[in-house]
Amino acid sequence: MILVTGGAGYIGSHLVMALLEKKEDVVVFDSLELGHIQTIEILQKFGNLKFVQGNLKNIDDIRGVFLVNKIDAVVHFAAYSQVGESVINPQKYYYNNVYGALNLLNAMLEFGVKKIVFSSTAAVYGEPCYTPIDENHQKNPINPYGNSKLMVEKILDDYDKAYGLKSVRLRYFNACGADSKSRIGEWHEPETHLIPNILKAEEGKNFKMYGDDYDTKDGTCIRDYINVEDLAAAHIKAVEYLNNGGKTDYFNLGTNEGNSVKEVFSVCETIKGEKIPVEICPRRAGDPAILVADNKKAKEVLNWAPQKDLYASIKSAYEWENVIPR
Ligand SMILES: NC(=O)c1ccc[n+]([C@@H]2O[C@H](COP(=O)([O-])OP(=O)(O)OC[C@H]3O[C@@H](n4cnc5c(N)ncnc54)[C@H](O)[C@@H]3O)[C@@H](O)[C@H]2O)c1
Repeated sequence: MILVTGGAGYIGSHLVMALLEKKEDVVVFDSLELGHIQTIEILQKFGNLKFVQGNLKNIDDIRGVFLVNKIDAVVHFAAYSQVGESVINPQKYYYNNVYGALNLLNAMLEFGVKKIVFSSTAAVYGEPCYTPIDENHQKNPINPYGNSKLMVEKILDDYDKAYGLKSVRLRYFNACGADSKSRIGEWHEPETHLIPNILKAEEGKNFKMYGDDYDTKDGTCIRDYINVEDLAAAHIKAVEYLNNGGKTDYFNLGTNEGNSVKEVFSVCETIKGEKIPVEICPRRAGDPAILVADNKKAKEVLNWAPQKDLYASIKSAYEWENVIPR
């Protein structure tokens, strides 16, 4: 049985769907603070899924899961991930993302579970020194969110050396898209991600484009948009890698290609078939001009490669928009 923390959230739920489709038994542990019970109810139609509502900040909540389930491996998504909020309230981020992860790891050790896949982020690299960014790029996060993720990565290294706990850290770039059958999708409140925000814009509620004077081909920021089903597939490869005795390691998950905000905006207009109202705003602090992943290592070691392009991702996001009224 695989334990997925944060499986009621965006990326976690797509992994759960992929695992259920492979006939894996899954237990999701989620506080539902940011995730949704409706997502769990949909997922439960597709296989053997147990749901436990609990908080990683309470070690007994997570110990209870190991006590009554035979867990073979853990995939750990549960965390807070809003960069701006982490700057204003670092305590909230370190407490949840680091202390919560420590409780999980300590429960794993107590019950002899030694394999974990961890949701890390491109934010561990900080300001890019070169592009595309490979895994050897310096790790110098510029906000508490990135720091919290790098701290957990370091804890995972130490837990391997001391206790033999094996981990794969997956550093995602910009997750996007939805289930290709529109069963589940991106559902953040508030929504801070680019594509849903462009798609949701309408007359009187302009899409805000932050900065069109960057040193890029069209002046807007360039990011690497990685499809959420491709991310789910990478987690399955990572669990298989650990099951096959793979060593503790870390991988970028991205496409090796960047798209500018204006390019994303234009694909959204094409898919929606209408003009989307837009307002150019000043740059936001802390937004680097270009963030693109070098994904060679994941391709070579995990035998994973992204399958979906930006158009397919935005189309799936658009089709999901009206599925559950939100
Ligand atoms: N979305 C992205 O583009 C992106 C990029 C890089 C990394 N990540 C990382 O991927 C992971 C998943 O991101 P997401 O976009 O799916 O986020 P999300 O907010 O949709 O999902 C996170 C889930 O974790 C749960 N959770 C949070 N803290 C918890 C706790 N203490 N105990 C139990 N449950 C808790 C929430 O209720 C939510 O359901 C996060 O760790 C995030 O940092 C996301």
